[in-house]
Parts: sequence; structure tokens; C-alpha cells
Amino acid sequence: MEGIWETQKGAAAVLFAVPDRASQSNLYEVSIPRLASFYLTHDWNGEIKGIKEFGDKHPPVGPVFWAFRTMVGVGMLMLAVSWFASYEMKFKKGLSRTTAKILVAMTFAGWVALVSGWYVTEIGRQPWLVQGVLTTAQAASKVPAGNIALSLAMYLTLYAALLSAYVSVVFYLAKKAVAGSDAPQLKAGVLSHA
Ligand code: HEM
Repeated sequence: MEGIWETQKGAAAVLFAVPDRASQSNLYEVSIPRLASFYLTHDWNGEIKGIKEFGDKHPPVGPVFWAFRTMVGVGMLMLAVSWFASYEMKFKKGLSRTTAKILVAMTFAGWVALVSGWYVTEIGRQPWLVQGVLTTAQAASKVPAGNIALSLAMYLTLYAALLSAYVSVVFYLAKKAVAGSDAPQLKAGVLSHA
């Protein structure tokens, strides 16, 4: 997650970099001095073990590094957008069209952050499922791959059906609510009062 290759005291927090597997170092690194030692050991000069210390027995650095930054970045973006939207609604005339469009564009932001976070732990924790207790090899299932593919396909089909049912119910209810009120109605893409 941190992209720290060398064991060091007073390690910098890497904000941005391109971790390079071949040279075992970061390219284009932008970092804040000593901050990583502080938040990982609660001591500005605390020692952090570098990735190199583990020889070739470490997870792939790039995917974990990027997934972590995607998760945190999207999380920050969600905070910024929601705070800005609240500010507009409270102190301005209301939600602007641009902000409304950004909110719609961010519909799946939570999902992106969640899947990224999951990548961080699932790729980064290997080969342990529970550190020091259970290795992935010990816990790997003996169920044939074909069975797993079949149950995955069944889950996907079921969830696709549930999702489309959910979306059509939401649309049905929204149309019904608008029809019985004087709320603005959407006619040929234009907002107008009935
Ligand atoms: C905004 C700043 C965020 C920080 C600093 C942060 C930090 C972390 C860290 C350190 C981990 C690894 C934990 C571990 O090793 O056990 C993690 C995992 C995870 N994060 Fe984030 N996160 C942030 C935002 C988010 C957001 C916005 C979401 C989803 C909406 C999210 C979803 C997850 C998930 C699903 C995991 C995996 C949990 C697991 O498999 O045990 N995170 N996060």
C-alpha cells in the first residue's frame, strides 16, 4: 500500500509514484517526509520494514499500490462532492445543474472504492487469509472449478434479474408519484409543470 521498498527510519508517505518491479524502486515519487513512520508507528522516526526485506515473497506492488490510491481518492472525491452539494443546497439557490450531473456521474463511486479496497486486501494479504494463522493454500477449496463457475453464473443471473426488477419498480413508483402530483414532469426531456 505504501510503496516503501527500503527498510528505513523516518519513512516518507508516498502520495504518488509509479512502483517499478524491475528496479525495485518508485519512479516519479511525490512524498511527504517522515509522515508514513508517524502514522504507521506513531513515532516520526519509527522504522518501517521495506518490501525488499521479503525477497520475492511479497504481493505484486503495483496493483495494491494503485487500488489503495483509487479507494482513498474516490473516498475523498465523494466527501468533496457531497459537501459541495450540501453547501449549494443550503447557501445557494439550490443544486446547480453541473453538480447534479456530477452526482449522477458518481452513482457507482462507492462501488468503485469498495472493489478497490477489496483488491487491496485480497491481493495485498497473500499468501495469508489470516496473518500468521491460515495460509491461502490451507484454505483453498477442493471444489472443482466447473462447479464454482456454475454457481458464479447462477449468482450473476439471479442478481441481474433482481437488479432489473429493482430498477423497474423504482421507475414505476417514480412515475406513479409524479402523475398524482403537481411536481415537474419530464416531457420529451424538458422539465415542465403539468
Ligand atoms: C477515504 C479514505 C480511506 C482510507 C484511508 C482507507 C483505508 C483502508 C485500509 C488501510 C484498508 C486495508 C485494511 C486492512 O489491511 O485490513 C482498507 C480496506 C478496504 N476499504 Fe478502504 N479506505 C478509505 C476509503 C474507502 C471507501 C470510500 C470505501 C468504500 C466505499 C472503502 C472500502 C474498503 C474495503 C471494502 C476494504 C477491504 C476490507 C477487507 O477486505 O477486509 N475504503 N481501506
